[in-house]
Amino acid sequence: MCGIVGYVGPKSTVDVLIGGLRRLEYRGYDSAGVSVVANGHLETRKKAGKLGNLESEITNHPLPIAHIGIGHTRWATHGAPTDQNAHPHLGGPTSKLSLIHNGIIENFAELKAEAIAHGAKFASETDSEVAAHLIAIEYERNGDLIESFSTVVNRLHGAFTILVVHEDQPDVVLAARRNAPLVVGLGDGENFLGSDVAAFVEHTKRAISVGQDEIVILRTDGVELRHFDGTPATHEEFTVDWDASAASKGGWSSFMAKEIADQPQAVADTLMGRLDSDGLITLPELFEDFPVADMKSIDRIIIVACGTASYAGDVTKYAIEKWARVPVQVELSHEFRYRSPIVTPNTLVVAISQSGETMDTLMAIRYARELGAKVLAICNTQGATLARESNATIYTHAGPEVAVASTKALTAQITAGYLLALTLGSARGALTTAEAARLGKELLKLPAKVQDVLATAKQAEELGTKMAGAKSVLFLGRNVGYPIAMEGALKLKEIAYIHAEGFAAGELKHGPIALIEEGQPVIVIVPSPDDEDSLHPKVISNIQEIRARGAKVIAIAQEGDKTVADYAEHVLYVPQSDPIMAAVLDVIPLQGFALALATALGLDVDQPRNLAKSVTVE
Ligand code: AGP
Repeated sequence: MCGIVGYVGPKSTVDVLIGGLRRLEYRGYDSAGVSVVANGHLETRKKAGKLGNLESEITNHPLPIAHIGIGHTRWATHGAPTDQNAHPHLGGPTSKLSLIHNGIIENFAELKAEAIAHGAKFASETDSEVAAHLIAIEYERNGDLIESFSTVVNRLHGAFTILVVHEDQPDVVLAARRNAPLVVGLGDGENFLGSDVAAFVEHTKRAISVGQDEIVILRTDGVELRHFDGTPATHEEFTVDWDASAASKGGWSSFMAKEIADQPQAVADTLMGRLDSDGLITLPELFEDFPVADMKSIDRIIIVACGTASYAGDVTKYAIEKWARVPVQVELSHEFRYRSPIVTPNTLVVAISQSGETMDTLMAIRYARELGAKVLAICNTQGATLARESNATIYTHAGPEVAVASTKALTAQITAGYLLALTLGSARGALTTAEAARLGKELLKLPAKVQDVLATAKQAEELGTKMAGAKSVLFLGRNVGYPIAMEGALKLKEIAYIHAEGFAAGELKHGPIALIEEGQPVIVIVPSPDDEDSLHPKVISNIQEIRARGAKVIAIAQEGDKTVADYAEHVLYVPQSDPIMAAVLDVIPLQGFALALATALGLDVDQPRNLAKSVTVE
């Protein structure tokens, strides 16, 4: 889950690399480093800690003007986050080769013994360094860098994106990809490599997604792709639709604050062009690959995802079951992959991922396809592996999400889930055209309602700030409020390091109510009282049960709810909406609450400890 960037071209390489690393720092921030080749010499700077430490190191020990180089930001797997273990790693007796790696080399122990037998001296505890030594050893033997690189990457097991520069070959960056992301950016007289398009989007929007087991030979005047067996590989170029400025803070105190505020746009952009003004859906990217006949033959849907994306999956399940009447199960990707799930050709597997690079989810879809299922991705990142390996993709258009804690990606994923549910409902005849149009029109109102919730976010923030001393916060909800409660708890754990748990409100009396003691803060998602199947009275009863035992209740309720205020210490109101669509509105005060609480504790909300945004190891 490290971030990698490579550059060859006329610009100042150090600036391009540091700029790219800044945009990729969300992938890992245990250490960072760069290597450049200038005037026939390889120069490397690397430092433990956040990118700022590397920048200070470069200020103190400046690098020469260079036109080729590689950069890395690390999330530690093998070896502690120290200067020595920071990438790049140098290879060969004269250290002329520099290598960066994202992933895990599983057979590194046996390869290390081999490299040591050839005289290699290891400077780090990483698995990555072995590849640097082996390529250098091979190059000394045959004098052909591309050949040596290819020979060694073919011998590595596990997951890797590897980039190499060598001072004897100052015009080329070599890269290889297996089970870890790599995208090429195509410029005019310059070319780029990155873990994702954020690495180079400020320089070019033309990109190619590198395939599995492929090698890239990157020069100023061209990019060549080969399979690991040496045969040529080709991929279509695509245009990145992210605006470079979307990946900068733009005056906000944190990326998370900005991304929470981006949500009306993220939801609107995810709906854009997919619903007409009558509320009817046009989702060509889906229909091309899943003709209506296929949608009719689906007898079960399995949604696979991790973390926040899995909560988007839970909400999508409620929507699909209600509107399309297809049974849905939601599975954590890593659990789905390593049991014996029942998958038939009539099973549709839906994978949800912001990054499209989460290894657990990739392994799950590969397995699902092996078992004969069709896979539909809901993904935010163009060129991502998930999109490439799925039968069809509904892109969420949330723009780049930089903060580790997911916010706008979630609301965009849920929005895409609603679009999918309505599409299936119409195609299968579970919804009449009039019902589908009514729901579609409700969906079109969501961006404005999200904007309204943000306008009242102050209250959630004030509560979060006041509660900075809390030791534990519980979250309760029913129906779509249940996954939203779990998401509220995840946000708090993730960025405020506070014990938090989300429960189905009805489950409380089966055990968790024992946790309630005098003063325990509990945030409860209260559904609308007006819906005909409303769970409102049941949730109010649950509130009474916990208040009787001393809980301090904060309710998230819909405007116009006249009774809830009698049962809660604080009520945060969100606009009225369809009960399933309320999920998108209810989650926003929880995000603001967690952000304010973590900020009051003085924590780095964008880069919480121990985490990385893209989890590209299993
Ligand atoms: C949420 O705030 C997380 N950082 C995390 O749970 C994330 O949603 C999960 O790792 C899945 O990531 P993905 O959407 O990129 O697959």
